[in-house]
Amino acid sequence: MIERYLALWGEAETLRFLEACERPIRTSIRVNTLKTPIDLLVKRLQSKGVVLEGVPWLAEGYYADFGSISPGSLFEHMLGFYYIQGVPSMTVSRVLNPQPGEMVMDIAAAPGGKTTHMAQMMENSGMIVSIDEDRVRIRSLQGNILRCGVNNTLVLRGDARRLEHLPFHPNRILLDAPCSGEGLIPLDPSRKTSRSMADIRYCADRQQDMLSSAAKVLAGGGSLVYSTCSIAPEENEFVIDDFLKKQPEMKIDDIAIDFGSQGYVRPFGIQLDKSLARARRLLPHEHKTEGFFICRMTKEG
Ligand SMILES: C[S@@+](CC[C@H](N)C(=O)[O-])C[C@H]1O[C@@H](n2cnc3c(N)ncnc32)[C@H](O)[C@@H]1O
Repeated sequence: MIERYLALWGEAETLRFLEACERPIRTSIRVNTLKTPIDLLVKRLQSKGVVLEGVPWLAEGYYADFGSISPGSLFEHMLGFYYIQGVPSMTVSRVLNPQPGEMVMDIAAAPGGKTTHMAQMMENSGMIVSIDEDRVRIRSLQGNILRCGVNNTLVLRGDARRLEHLPFHPNRILLDAPCSGEGLIPLDPSRKTSRSMADIRYCADRQQDMLSSAAKVLAGGGSLVYSTCSIAPEENEFVIDDFLKKQPEMKIDDIAIDFGSQGYVRPFGIQLDKSLARARRLLPHEHKTEGFFICRMTKEG
């Protein structure tokens, strides 16, 4: 892995990345506005000694220092008043920006961090079709939907590479794709050695297939957000570059929120579609978050 990042970034940046991976990432929570007004929960948590600081670009997002309290053990968590969620994950749903009354698909949905966030943005109206193929993880998705008071969601277990068999043509699709998790090393150091290049290739193939399936069913003029918790260009910029070649009706959009840095257009010296600069990267050594990639696209026509 280090050899790949030396080739991508050179020695100085790779070292900064490796050092950042040894530092803890701040815990963050998203206030579930389906269950509580933001200011009320902030007061309740502060009265229990939790130190909160707002995420600049997310009204419902807070960095939260729980001290010796386990973040998932509070009554307010059990009641669904907040969701423990990384800042990049919360940003993904904001980038897709689903509106009340719309029809949305979340095609890699479990355990539901982004489905439940989109439901609150949609004020529990319209419909979210949340799909995941994993029998065990789908139970967590259902549990989180219940805990968060979400009631606009249809949960389906199945393979999102075959979406054309469903009778839905949504205006917005989220693909928070299965990936190597190379961005999660600060949270899970075992990922330094547990994933090989073969795993990355396997994920990239699946990501391509899921993207193609999403493009088939997305309504004309609709938006597709692709995200991963990987910093590997092989699972991000290269996947999107291939996808744009196969699906010329898909175009990368600017992202209106100010966070992160630009997607790469020449990783490892290989020239990719220049519009990839509009995608965003979050990097442990630049932004003090877990690593993430977010790209928003529109289907022309
Ligand atoms: C990164 S996780 C999704 C996390 C989720 N979006 C959230 O915010 O809580 C990726 C998910 O994709 C699911 N998955 C992998 N391949 C799939 C497929 N072919 N069809 C549907 N889901 C798939 C995995 O089971 C896993 O739950």
